[in-house]
Amino acid sequence: MVTEFVYAQPVKILFGAHRFDHLSEILKEHGIQRAVVACDRFFSERIRGMMQDTKEIVAVFDDVEENPQLSGVIETARLAKEHGADCVIGIGGGSTIDTAKFAAAVAADPEIAERCWKGEVPFPKETLHIVAVPTTAGTGSEVTQVSVVSHGRDKKTINNPVFMPLLAIVDPYLSSTVPPRTTMNTGIDAMAHALEGYWSKNHQPISDLCAIEAVRLILENLERAYRDGNDLEARTKMAYASLLGGLSFALPKTAGSHACSYPLSEDYHLPHGEACAFTLDSFVRINADERLEYLSRAAGLKDTAELAERIRALKETAGLRRTLSDLGDVDMDKLVRDCAAHPLMQNNPVQMTEEKLREMFEALQ
Ligand SMILES: NC(=O)c1ccc[n+]([C@@H]2O[C@H](COP(=O)([O-])OP(=O)(O)OC[C@H]3O[C@@H](n4cnc5c(N)ncnc54)[C@H](O)[C@@H]3O)[C@@H](O)[C@H]2O)c1
Ligand SMILES: [Fe+2]
Repeated sequence: MVTEFVYAQPVKILFGAHRFDHLSEILKEHGIQRAVVACDRFFSERIRGMMQDTKEIVAVFDDVEENPQLSGVIETARLAKEHGADCVIGIGGGSTIDTAKFAAAVAADPEIAERCWKGEVPFPKETLHIVAVPTTAGTGSEVTQVSVVSHGRDKKTINNPVFMPLLAIVDPYLSSTVPPRTTMNTGIDAMAHALEGYWSKNHQPISDLCAIEAVRLILENLERAYRDGNDLEARTKMAYASLLGGLSFALPKTAGSHACSYPLSEDYHLPHGEACAFTLDSFVRINADERLEYLSRAAGLKDTAELAERIRALKETAGLRRTLSDLGDVDMDKLVRDCAAHPLMQNNPVQMTEEKLREMFEALQ
């Protein structure tokens, strides 16, 4: 029964195939005159080619890496300051959007980026507008106030209102070039956002609705998008599901699988989505309750057991790493210690002690 909640979603969302072709008009409409773009190598040529007709783009940082580094943030922020920009646009996957968010937040004084990252000083009061253009489906970063940035080997998730985009331009057509394995990794990340937002201790009714629809759409369309990247209907439904996934966890935050994804990415080098996928079906079984049974049925399945099985099967289809031996030499003591200590683990509805985590990982043979 709904009793009380607080809900806010401040990002304006423009959704539709080929929306991105109208970037110049969109920026003008929103009063943006001088934007720096952050992107990765894949989009570099296209963005540089657009600068002729899109006068609002004044500079490009095109070297965003997967698991983006603080050094890329600082370079983007310096470009923004040097060019007197009023906006940073992230065009790409979560790595690029998170770079753009952080750069916009420190553009007034790029030299303090490292101290902001360490939490030693607050972000400057003056920040630039953020426009997020996701090209994977995906992180949902276009509607969250989260930025995940690494400094050396240390990967840190920072949750701060300064990272909230002004605009999200979601053009599903942009995702048609994502390779199959990345399609699967990022699609399961979106599923993890929906499920973890739903079972998070901080879950709430409007986010729950987004989660149920996201899971339904992902179950229907992820394998299609994986098998045929040019299937625009499947790509569109996945882009929408990813957006809903973002809205599902933006307020409740994620839980067990995301908590485990950090050690799995840092020590065993799994990409973010694959790292979340590694434990997602295990957490479906561990967190199974009446609410999850309701979600499973509303998403078109027989029961929660079928949800876990469908996730396992998706991972198998794409050849994602699923067992302990797939990880190589595992330091189990460190793995369970780090997973248990991650702050997101506190949001998991079932308390996960080191013993329980060990049991979960040891079952993955
Ligand atoms: N801010 C948030 O709310 C949030 C949420 C979840 C994850 N994350 C973070 O986001 C990052 C992962 O983002 P991601 O999964 O989108 O991957 P990514 O941004 O790292 O991109 C993965 C790969 O896909 C390629 N790619 C992206 N779009 C493409 C396209 N349209 N065509 C061809 N190739 C394309 C990129 O070049 C890259 O090689 C991680 O650092 C993760 O921690 C952030
Ligand atoms: Fe994620």
